[in-house]
Amino acid sequence: MFLNVGLLNNKRTITLNRNGTEPVIVVDGLTKVFGRFTAVDHLHFSVPRGEIFGFLGPNGAGKSTTIRMLCGLLSSTEGTATVGGYDINRDPERVRQNIGYMSQKFSLYKDLTVSENIAFFGGVYGLARTRLRERAAAVVRLAGLTGLEKRLAGTLSGAHQQRLALGCAILHEPPILFLDEPTSGVDPISRRLFWDLIQDMASRGVTVLVTTHFMDEAEFCGRIGFISGGRLVALDTPSALKRDAVREELYEVSLADMQGSRERVESVPGVVATSYFGRNLHVFCRPGTFTAESLQQALVRDGMGVQSVESVSVSLEDAFIRLAAPAGKAAA
Ligand SMILES: Nc1ncnc2c1ncn2[C@@H]1O[C@H](COP(=O)(O)OP(=O)(O)OP(=O)(O)O)[C@@H](O)[C@H]1O
Ligand SMILES: [Mg+2]
Repeated sequence: MFLNVGLLNNKRTITLNRNGTEPVIVVDGLTKVFGRFTAVDHLHFSVPRGEIFGFLGPNGAGKSTTIRMLCGLLSSTEGTATVGGYDINRDPERVRQNIGYMSQKFSLYKDLTVSENIAFFGGVYGLARTRLRERAAAVVRLAGLTGLEKRLAGTLSGAHQQRLALGCAILHEPPILFLDEPTSGVDPISRRLFWDLIQDMASRGVTVLVTTHFMDEAEFCGRIGFISGGRLVALDTPSALKRDAVREELYEVSLADMQGSRERVESVPGVVATSYFGRNLHVFCRPGTFTAESLQQALVRDGMGVQSVESVSVSLEDAFIRLAAPAGKAAA
């Protein structure tokens, strides 16, 4: 039911660009300053039609602010962007007509029923009555909400609220979707189903810009833009980020006594940074400085009880931890 997607196979939704490779979202020096604080700092990137573009970064990095600008809900201080060919500052109304937006806190009306929420958003998007009826039925089916039409949105499970929010965001079959942490508070199976749906839509030509703090979800993205302190610090495919974002060699170290050891490990010459990884420590080392054996010896020489040292390949999480704190020693 939830995966039965046939709704977006509608030419009207995917003819925004004459040329399939033409970027649908073009961001050019986009900047937002609140008072004296620069929340978004000269972003440049573009997203082609049908791509799932992941927008990742630590809390407060500027992801939601960027999305609100791209949705035509907040004007930029400097720079601009076009979304579906429309300028976000000059034509925010046309931008809003062409996009679906799922805000970080699902923008549902909790004291309205499922059907009433759908009708409300149908009104916002200006759907005629017949079309709204068709789309409402389709969205209820798509979101797996059949039988729940009369339930108050606030009484639905997290996953159902999420699907309803997505359903409301795609009621008008927009060719571009902005999803701001759409899966927070949703269980892993429902998250997976949600991503199946997003990938299905993207395969039909819908362009998706999505933020997430889940690394498994980041892996589903075609490319990832990593933002930190308002700046885009990396942009690449997940595999290229894992290959290139971390210059150091990585070892997983298991210590007998973790307490206070992290600082000691970081003080070993050649160690660039550390981060916790489950019960172990990930140790980023200057390339060519250590082998697993020589790192173990260096730690033992420093009086640490070392259980094991293993050379490991960089995960997306490792890459992000380093990207978020490239300057200092402590990585997380
Ligand atoms: N209206 C506002 N006025 C002043 N500061 C703001 C405003 N909106 C956002 N900020 C600040 O801008 C910065 C970026 O916020 P934003 O919500 O874009 O971050 P985020 O990357 O979405 O973070 P999170 O992962 O926590 O959702 C934060 O420091 C936030 O406090
Ligand atoms: Mg946010």
